[in-house]
Amino acid sequence: MIHTRVHVVNNPEEMGRLAADLFEAAIQAKPACVIGLATGSTPLPLYRELIAREKAGRIDFSKVRSANLDEYKGLAPDHPQSYRRFMQENLFDHISIRPENTIVPDGLAADIDAMCKAYEEKIESWGGVDLQLLGIGHDGHIGFNEPEDHFPGMTHEVQLTEMTRDANKRFFASIDEVPTAAFTMGIGTVMAARKIVMVVTGEDKREILRKTFWGPVTPQVPASILQFHPDVTLICDKAAYPF
Ligand code: GLP
Repeated sequence: MIHTRVHVVNNPEEMGRLAADLFEAAIQAKPACVIGLATGSTPLPLYRELIAREKAGRIDFSKVRSANLDEYKGLAPDHPQSYRRFMQENLFDHISIRPENTIVPDGLAADIDAMCKAYEEKIESWGGVDLQLLGIGHDGHIGFNEPEDHFPGMTHEVQLTEMTRDANKRFFASIDEVPTAAFTMGIGTVMAARKIVMVVTGEDKREILRKTFWGPVTPQVPASILQFHPDVTLICDKAAYPF
């Protein structure tokens, strides 16, 4: 562990409030800031808190731009399990962010290379990500960057591991319906964010969290590269904290 700030919290709600403080500060400092967003169950208390804070007049999302980490390959935006739909239902539909200011990789892209390139260019045209939210997979993936022999750079297509498909099958009728591939920002895209906040809860994430921040930096644990990022805040609950 080199630069990481660690907050150990008592419950998911406290995690949500603490993470929301970082987003509130970023938006106050720069109303048109660019936030990087993540799916999964862990960020949900944060999204609930952000919605509540805008309703209470503490945050204004009307100028904010957002870029999501990833999307399943082959799922249409309105598919019940698509990450675009997840973001609409759990955040975007409840805040004042403008639809054209939210981007998620296109799961149905015909020209994959062009879509990935355009995704990177859009983020760059916005001036880069100011604050990136991350969860973590049980194998150490961030976005959908699975363990590999190298750290992938930019937005690209990935094959999902069986571990990841198995973890995500809870959202689908059966494992056969879980896509086998996805599009994700690369590790390079994530590392280019000025500030990163990672949220982790639950005992099942304890071992991978230890490897990520207190183990060697290796593409076999993709999230371990975060040890080299100069501004990472880790918010985890007691169950996930390895010590
Ligand atoms: C998916 C997402 C990741 C997320 C992970 C963990 O694989 N692509 O971005 O971090 O799930 O999700 P959860 O928070 O539900 O454990």
